[in-house]
Amino acid sequence: MSSSALNFGYPWWLTYGHLPIVAVALLLLLVGYWRKWSKWPMLLVAAVFLWSSSALLISRFLFDINGRGSLPTENFFRGGTGRVLDIGAGTGRSSIMVLEARPQATLVALDLFGESFDEHFGPGQSPQERLLRNLQIAGVAQRATLSTADMRKLPFEPATFDAIVSAYAMDHLNREGSIQSLAEAARVLKPGGDFLLMLVAKEPWIEFTFGPLIMHAGTRGAAWWGPRVQEAGFQVVEEGTRPATLYILARRSLP
Ligand SMILES: C[S@@+](CC[C@H](N)C(=O)[O-])C[C@H]1O[C@@H](n2cnc3c(N)ncnc32)[C@H](O)[C@@H]1O
Repeated sequence: MSSSALNFGYPWWLTYGHLPIVAVALLLLLVGYWRKWSKWPMLLVAAVFLWSSSALLISRFLFDINGRGSLPTENFFRGGTGRVLDIGAGTGRSSIMVLEARPQATLVALDLFGESFDEHFGPGQSPQERLLRNLQIAGVAQRATLSTADMRKLPFEPATFDAIVSAYAMDHLNREGSIQSLAEAARVLKPGGDFLLMLVAKEPWIEFTFGPLIMHAGTRGAAWWGPRVQEAGFQVVEEGTRPATLYILARRSLP
């Protein structure tokens, strides 16, 4: 199926929010040219036009939040056979990333499907149905099951999963909640299993495009997350960034 049929449901302004600013700046440039405005107002409007049009291109094509994503590192769960947990699966973007990259894997897509889901994706059709529909469109639904639960208290036995992914979800909790959810991830992951954590990054691309708008309480950076991941019982094996994303690949320490 084509990726255009997928609907991850992130708000329009994350992709097209700069468009009205581009339109207004362009209009002002034309008016200024026609009315022969002086140099400084024209330069100011030109700067706004340049920023908003490049930010529009970046958010549409570089971040592409509503597009199909890919794993930030090929080193995650290289074995590829076994059971993966997606913590904070939302409308399925990260679950589809894993299931497409690892065709032998099965996956449990876990989310609270509550207030935070509605804040990100808007109310409407049942959240579980939205997630399931995207998994079906991507052709991976037969390898996925859904779980409604809080990531701070996972409803699984210790050492249940071969790998865990969590994308842009643990950073939506406060510090205490993030630490609890890391501990829970460590508890339900088998020793030696991979944990891929993706977070909204405080990096130049995102700061240029959105300024402080997209920074929420959880935007903490590698200096905070790296040590917390280790304290939870993982060894960090790789760390990196890609546009808008900080990722940490960690391995559950052996007993
Ligand atoms: C920004 S979305 C990320 C969705 C998906 N992983 C992706 O890559 O697009 C964050 C998700 O975390 C979920 N979430 C927030 N707090 C949670 C909690 N305490 N337990 C489980 N899920 C939670 C929200 O419902 C939301 O679907």
